[in-house]
Amino acid sequence: MQLIFLGPPGAGKGTVATKVAVENGIPHISTGDIFRYNINNKTELGLKVKSILDSGELVPDTLTIDLVRDRLSQEDCARGFILDGFPRTIAQAEALEAFARILAVLDFAIPDEQIVERLSGRRVHKASGRTYHVVHDPPKVPGKDDVTGEELIVRSDDQVDSIRKRLSVYHEQTAPLKAFYQDKGLLTAVDATPSPDSVYRSIQQILRKAQA
Ligand code: AP5
Repeated sequence: MQLIFLGPPGAGKGTVATKVAVENGIPHISTGDIFRYNINNKTELGLKVKSILDSGELVPDTLTIDLVRDRLSQEDCARGFILDGFPRTIAQAEALEAFARILAVLDFAIPDEQIVERLSGRRVHKASGRTYHVVHDPPKVPGKDDVTGEELIVRSDDQVDSIRKRLSVYHEQTAPLKAFYQDKGLLTAVDATPSPDSVYRSIQQILRKAQA
């Protein structure tokens, strides 16, 4: 099952992808998570992309494409994968066609106002990437990770200026991918505004149909 989760920042792609990946025994590949892992570990890649992520701009296509090509060549992707946050430009989508076959593209639809509310309330466990929301999905103990009890943080790009920048980058460079995949008959829209459980159930139905 080779899936792309498309949609604006904060639409809930990562939240649902985590569950769908576990349920289907396939890896959840988030380019944002890979970049953040490298930033946290101060690798060469991390040092190169840190200021780009903080600003809300996109990492250059060639670098991102090489990274995903390499990740998809690994053995755990043989039965399928969920790409979350890739592709994000037409150049990335065109490059992907040369090294992966895609079963379905799910387009998470949500208005911009709701996105700002979701991202400003997001809290993250830095080491694992586990994500919470202060209102919609709070941790058992405020400010602490449910599993380790460690402090939760606010992502450095979840400041209002960076959120606005990411939204404008999304509308300009990523939204055109909807038409790209619609033309290929791969796109299905998902209403991303209800609760995470409800979004998850809609996606289960879509995936059952896509596999039938
Ligand atoms: P990335 O990490 O991909 O960030 P993003 O697209 O901005 O997506 P988010 O992780 O912010 O949102 P999400 O949809 O996963 O939402 P989540 O589930 O967390 O990218 C970061 C940066 O990396 C980019 O800006 C760019 O610089 C770079 N980058 C990454 N990929 C790239 C690429 N391909 N090319 C170039 N550069 C790239 O949910 C958000 C919040 O809402 C959470 O608090 C959650 O608990 C809550 N929530 C989730 N679902 C619901 C719901 N249904 N109801 C209520 N609350 C909900």
